[in-house]
Amino acid sequence: MTQDIIVERRGAAQLIRMNRPDKKNALTRAMYGAMIEALDAGETDPDVRVHVFLGVPGAFSAGNDIGDFLAYAQGGALGPELVAFLVRLATAEKPMVSGVDGIAVGIGTTLNLHCDLTFATRRTVFRTPFVDLGLVPEAGSSLLAPGIIGRQQAFALLGLGHGFSADRAKTAGLIYDVVDEDDLERAVFAAADEIAAKPPQALKIARELMRGPREALVARIHEEVRHFGEQLRSAEARAAFQAFMNRKRAG
Ligand code: COA
Repeated sequence: MTQDIIVERRGAAQLIRMNRPDKKNALTRAMYGAMIEALDAGETDPDVRVHVFLGVPGAFSAGNDIGDFLAYAQGGALGPELVAFLVRLATAEKPMVSGVDGIAVGIGTTLNLHCDLTFATRRTVFRTPFVDLGLVPEAGSSLLAPGIIGRQQAFALLGLGHGFSADRAKTAGLIYDVVDEDDLERAVFAAADEIAAKPPQALKIARELMRGPREALVARIHEEVRHFGEQLRSAEARAAFQAFMNRKRAG
């Protein structure tokens, strides 16, 4: 069991905290596995009314672990935990709230597209450098982002890899609100408490109506995964990962 994911109950909220600060919360296979377990447990526990995602101060997540990407590239397929986590996110029936502080790269950005409310601090920058890494958008973001922030903003975010400051993300509709660092967890849990106080069945139906059927989203996740797996083996992607891994060694 990994210590890099901490799961806690806070009232009716189940907190899933990414906690690998020395690697800026880069997500490993074990971390995806632990998050799937937590989501499964929270979905079936009637006392849990809302899922909460947090990172550590300064880092929500630096995205998928690039060492794992290199291993996937050599093995020829994405790790099953990553794919299962993406599908679990897309199919969760309970509301999800996230609190983002600082680094939010790759899945550190796209995870929030599945959340019902996202709070981010002023120093947060959302970034998805998929294309620059020779990759394609994941987590259903190619379908979700155009619907949430519009095609042109989505192209800038997912296609061009532009960083979105918290203010820009709020203006674009990517997140719900911008808060001070010191206030992030208070704001997140206040929102979770507000959600938990609502009649659950009515809120569940309202949420399902707003999100629509999940089938198209899950199909898109698998379609993205297929392209992603192919691109991982491309020379351009391997060169980008290798350059990142060698960066520190080169000093
Ligand atoms: N995978 C694996 N390790 C990662 C990582 C990732 N995605 N992101 C950061 N790390 C590691 C670094 O290698 C470094 O490890 P080390 O101290 O053992 O050398 C440590 O986390 C700290 O990262 P560092 O780069 O020193 O922090 P920073 O604040 O200068 O920069 C980032 C932070 C996020 C801008 C930078 O680490 C980065 O660009 N990471 C890659 C992000 C990415 O492309 N993710 C994939 C998206 S699809």
